[in-house]
Amino acid sequence: MRSFLFVPADSAKKLDKAMTSGADAIIVDLEDSIALDGKARARQSAAEFIKAVSASPKRPYLIVRVNGLQTGLTDADLDAVAPARLDAVMLPKAEGGAAVIHAAAKLSVREALNDLPDGHIKILPIATETAAALFVAGTFAGASPRLLGLTWGAEDLSAELGAQMNRDAQGRFLDPYRLARTLCLAGAAAAGVPAIDTVYVDFRDANGLRRECEEACRDGFTGKMAIHPAQVAIINAVFTPSPEALARAQAIVDAFAARPDAGVVGIGGVMYDRPHLVRAQQLLARAASASRR
Ligand code: COA
Ligand code: MG
Repeated sequence: MRSFLFVPADSAKKLDKAMTSGADAIIVDLEDSIALDGKARARQSAAEFIKAVSASPKRPYLIVRVNGLQTGLTDADLDAVAPARLDAVMLPKAEGGAAVIHAAAKLSVREALNDLPDGHIKILPIATETAAALFVAGTFAGASPRLLGLTWGAEDLSAELGAQMNRDAQGRFLDPYRLARTLCLAGAAAAGVPAIDTVYVDFRDANGLRRECEEACRDGFTGKMAIHPAQVAIINAVFTPSPEALARAQAIVDAFAARPDAGVVGIGGVMYDRPHLVRAQQLLARAASASRR
């Protein structure tokens, strides 16, 4: 999955629009975009929306962002949306694998109550929203087979750190957030799951978004979250491997297949060894799984 579009759960119009946005996944938000006194109503509308669309063919992947485990709101969120057969929950302010284990236990109960197979609902943590979370970003490996990927956030982290801003004048993330981004990437790789890049909030700036997508793709992220439908096409385009990249990857795989004993091969005057083979195989696998969706 390349694009994950956030939609506030209390906006029926945006929920409808998200369905035709081209996003691979929709994140129905019960957390930051919903005021405290609107939570109950938002839970209801999230559940109604997911019930209405979950059976439609070729629908996007359906994620609900619940409120974090620290808030005391998570149980009511899960009670409301579990009967609607969502695909996954996004867990904000997650602090390491322990938070995933905690959320997984809550999900097992709801699955049993709603006749869903155990493990049906996956978990996508936002792994860097608190200072403490940074120190346990490497603990997601093996926490739960529900782990769908890891993503990261800079807004709550900058509030927690007491920072005045998180990007420089050119729009690039400052050091504390580059660290959080890297910890997300490494934490995801250590856990064997995809890393999903954070949102680009300046939704009229298509060039800035494209640059950030290209940098994320270059560094190993496989997708990015969006806050506006106009961001989806750019994200999908950048995170879809180009025919040239796929052909190059195939050539590397073919060259090693032709010489199974070789540790290193030369193609067109360039050396490729085992790490190049692994990268090529990963790219081809990602393209194959995207085309099956
Ligand atoms: N999902 C679906 N549709 C959306 C959307 C979203 N995230 N954001 C905007 N739209 C729709 C608007 O409703 C509007 O529809 P219309 O043409 O039928 O009127 C259209 O896209 C154009 O929107 P625009 O006028 O450019 O933006 P806006 O001022 O209406 O909305 C935001 C701006 C930021 C409030 C809105 O994009 C939004 O709610 N984003 C998600 C916020 C969120 O979930 N945050 C939490 C995660 S960080
Ligand atoms: Mg937040």
